[in-house]
This record gives sequence, C-alpha cells and structure tokens, in this order.
Amino acid sequence: MSDGQFEVGVTGLQAGHRPDACTLVIFGASGDLTQRELVPAVYELFRQDLLPDAFAVVGFSRSNWSDDAFRERMRVAARTECDFDAASWRQFQERVFYVPGDFTATADYERLKHRVTTIAGAQGCGGNQLFHLAAPPDFFGAIVEGLSASGLARDTRGWRRVVIEKPFGRDLASGRALDARIRGVFREDQIYRIDHFLGKETVQNMLVVRFANPSFEPIWNRNYIDHVQITVGEDIGIGTRAAFYERTGVVRDMVQNHLLQLLCMTAIEPPVRFDGNALRDETVKVLDAVQPLDLARDCVRGQYGPGTTDGAQAAGYRQEANVADDSTTATFAAVKLTVDNWRWAGVPFYLRTGKRLARKLTEVVIHFKPTPHLMFRTPRDRLHANVLAFRLQPDEGIIQTFAAKQPGPGLSIHSVRSSFLYASAFGIDTMPRAYAWLEEDAMRGDQTHFARSDWIERAWTIVDPLTAHWETDRPADFPNYAAGTWGPAAADALLARDGRAWTVI
Ligand SMILES: NC(=O)c1ccc[n+]([C@@H]2O[C@H](COP(=O)([O-])OP(=O)(O)OC[C@H]3O[C@@H](n4cnc5c(N)ncnc54)[C@H](OP(=O)(O)O)[C@@H]3O)[C@@H](O)[C@H]2O)c1
Repeated sequence: MSDGQFEVGVTGLQAGHRPDACTLVIFGASGDLTQRELVPAVYELFRQDLLPDAFAVVGFSRSNWSDDAFRERMRVAARTECDFDAASWRQFQERVFYVPGDFTATADYERLKHRVTTIAGAQGCGGNQLFHLAAPPDFFGAIVEGLSASGLARDTRGWRRVVIEKPFGRDLASGRALDARIRGVFREDQIYRIDHFLGKETVQNMLVVRFANPSFEPIWNRNYIDHVQITVGEDIGIGTRAAFYERTGVVRDMVQNHLLQLLCMTAIEPPVRFDGNALRDETVKVLDAVQPLDLARDCVRGQYGPGTTDGAQAAGYRQEANVADDSTTATFAAVKLTVDNWRWAGVPFYLRTGKRLARKLTEVVIHFKPTPHLMFRTPRDRLHANVLAFRLQPDEGIIQTFAAKQPGPGLSIHSVRSSFLYASAFGIDTMPRAYAWLEEDAMRGDQTHFARSDWIERAWTIVDPLTAHWETDRPADFPNYAAGTWGPAAADALLARDGRAWTVI
C-alpha cells in the first residue's frame, strides 16, 4: 500500500460569522465532560476568534467553589486538553464565572438567575442564554423545570436554547417521557440534543463528498456497493465510570446514538437543501427503513477479559473498580443491519463497537463490488475490492483504495491507496474538536447537527429489543474477548458467514 497527498487551494480554518452575544450556562460544571470537552472547546473558539464579542460562561454545580477556584481548575484542564497560551487564557477567564448550587433546590435557581443577569449586564451579553446540561441524565428533567420555575427559561428578552447530553433516556418509554418534560418548557426549535460525532469534520464531509462531487453519488447504491462496515473502536476501558457503564452498556452508550448516526450519514438520500429540517427529515427516513434486528442471528455481544493494550497489562471488565465480578454488561457489540429501501435493498451494514479493542479507531468503510469481468490473469483474491473509508479518528480524513499496475515488465497488480488527511491538506496542526463546532452551532441557532426527537424515538425502537434480549438472556461465555483484540470470535463469524471479513483501513 502506498499513500498519496491531496493539495487544496486554501489552508487553515475558514473564517466564520460570529454568533450573537450570549451567556453560556453549564449545568454540571465541576464534572468530567465540562473539564475535558466543554470548557476546552469554548476556549478553542475564543482563541480562534469565533466567539461573539460579548459572551460569558457561567458554571453551575454542587461543589462549593468560588469563581477563582473554578477558573483555576478549568485552566489546568485547558492546558492538558488543547493548545494553550497563558495570555489568551487570562483574557478568556475574565468571562468565566461559577455559581454553586443543587439541581433540585428552587432557591439555587433564583441565585443563579440573579448572578447570570448581573454577569450578562456587566459583560454586555444581552438577554441570550444557552444552557448546556452536562449533568447526570436523571437530572435533565429537574433542571429544565428549575429553569422554568425560576423564569430563566423565559425568552421574552433574548433567545433561550438548551443543549442536552446523551443518553437521551434509556429506552423508548423513558426517552419519550424525558422529551415530554423538556417540551413542557422548551419548544423543539430550542432543544439541541447533542451527539458529538455529528460535529466531526469527516462526518459532515461524508455529505460533501457525496453531494458536491459528481463522481460518487451515481455509484452510491446497491448496484455498486457490496456492503458497509462501521467501526467505533476504543482502546480504553471504562476508567472510573463503572456506575454509569453498568447501567448503560455498549448498546445504549454507542449503538443507539453514534453508530446509528453514522449509518444515517452513509445511507441518507439527498436532502433538498442543507438545513436542519431537510437533513434531519432524511435521517429519520433511513431509520424508518432499518429492518428489525434478527437478535439470534445478526447480533454479537462481548465483554473484555484481561489482556494487553499498548504493551501494558490491562484488567478485564469484571476486575475494574466497582464492577461486580459476575457482571453481564456487554462492552462490545456487532450487528448486521439492513436498510430496506430502493437504494440499499440487499446491502448489509455491519456495525461494531467496543471498549478495550486493539486500537482507537472510528471508520465508515464502503466496500464496492468487484468488476464483473477480470481480464487480467491475476488471482481475484490478490486484488482487494475498492474501498472508500471515512476515518473519524485518529487522523481524520478520507482514504480510497484501488488496483494499480506495479511498474516493470509483466503485469503485476497491487492495491494502492490515496489518502486525504485534513490536518495536512488544510495545514491545520490540531483539528478543532467536535464540541467546539456544536457549541458554536447552538449559539448560532443551527440545529442541523443535533438529533431531533423523532430520530431518537426511532433509534430506541431499533435497539430496545436488543437491550431487552441481552438483559434477560444471560451470556454464558463472558468474558469472551481479551483486552487489546478486535472483540469476540463470534463477531468475525458474523461476517465470515457472508463470505466477508472486518477490515481496518
Ligand atoms: N464524560 C464524558 O466523556 C461524556 C461523554 C458523553 C456524554 N456525557 C454525558 O454528560 C453528562 C455529564 O457527564 P460527566 O461524565 O461530566 O459526569 P460527572 O463527571 O459525574 O459530573 C456530573 C456533574 O453533575 C453535578 N451534579 C450531580 N448531581 C448534582 C446535583 N444534585 N446538583 C448540582 N450538581 C450536581 C456534579 O457536581 P459535583 O461533582 O460538584 O457534585 C458534576 O458537576 C452525562 O449526561 C453524561 O452521560 C459524558
């Protein structure tokens, strides 16, 4: 295999138009997500001059911190997580504030409201407010109701928007109940259900490749595509998140949201225009066409046992802190899905995801059918079929493989590949994080890359039978894959049965 290089006429990030002045209020400000993603994302936007001229960040959570204590923790987090320079941080932190309080205490919302109003006035942020719920999911309902009761949700003097983290419910019934609570306070056009995969450049570029280039769309169908593989592999284990993971498991954590979104971005029909509703109408139609899973035949689960990752010993799932030594929680899933519509009938979509896999890797790989007739006297198995891979991590980009003749006498044919890697093609050292784009989209009022409630309902409808089945039918073979591998043997057998194999591009 060899790599090619793409050249583009422009470098660096495109300049955008700034959102309106606003105040971002983060619920769960002392938590992991705020430190690792949200504040680093907003700081990155600040450094890239993509924030409004007037803005403020107000953190709200239980820890009894002062503004300065919060700023110091966020400074340490930003230094670890992103490009950092002390001068820009000093300017940024002047707009960062903290209010201690409890999500369930009415009086604390009153204090929050008073402080937000004072800060917004002093910073010139006007009346616009974006509420990011980076809180445990059980509190989502209580927080929006607290916002309502205190009057913070009222949008008479500026817009109000609420960003909700995943998971959005734990099944169809609880997802619907949560939606009803949130919609009791906010309209759908104010609700931003986040799936950070949708903020990744490559995911958005899947649409650009198909719909802005004449060469791909004509072959984007069952006549030319043999099958699609979607892999979201994590090399890490569950870390300190056992309580969350034991309740959630791999299907609710990854399949119901990230993998189904990637499926939709691959299988979507051309929307009439690039806007929130047209695009999301089409992703809903993709899920409408997904056939019920064959639970016994097309679904494989796994749980990691001890093994080796990056040359170091890794504990098995049942040995992780706060996990029961007979836990049956799945940390790996592979499923075969079919999308029964005119374009995709007969084309299987194989999805797999897991913790403690061989590599951190997220890829959507389109496998094209072989040529109908091969005139070269080369054994077919030496010719890899053409593939087009959208890689989300690491090294975001697009990779295509095709057959080429090796220079020299005779005819020796080999698979070669050309790679388009964002960072090098556009001369960007560090790709902006997905959370930065999504936060900025929410500030601009663009819902295109957020999940709509009808999409979430359909996603639960697809996975609910699987989670219910796996919860009642106890696995006899857990743990069934070693940490540092690509999952259980049954996942390989799922494809081998169809004469195929998982590929990592
Ligand atoms: N972490 C991730 O990588 C990740 C990824 C995707 C989605 N999410 C979602 O993001 C959300 C936050 O996750 P996380 O990992 O950041 O959780 P976390 O580390 O457990 O943080 C939870 C936050 O909520 C606050 N909190 C809890 N109960 C409270 C109460 N009664 N009143 C006020 N504050 C309270 C905590 O405050 P104190 O600590 O001060 O008590 C803390 O700030 C969850 O919905 C999660 O599913 C997280």
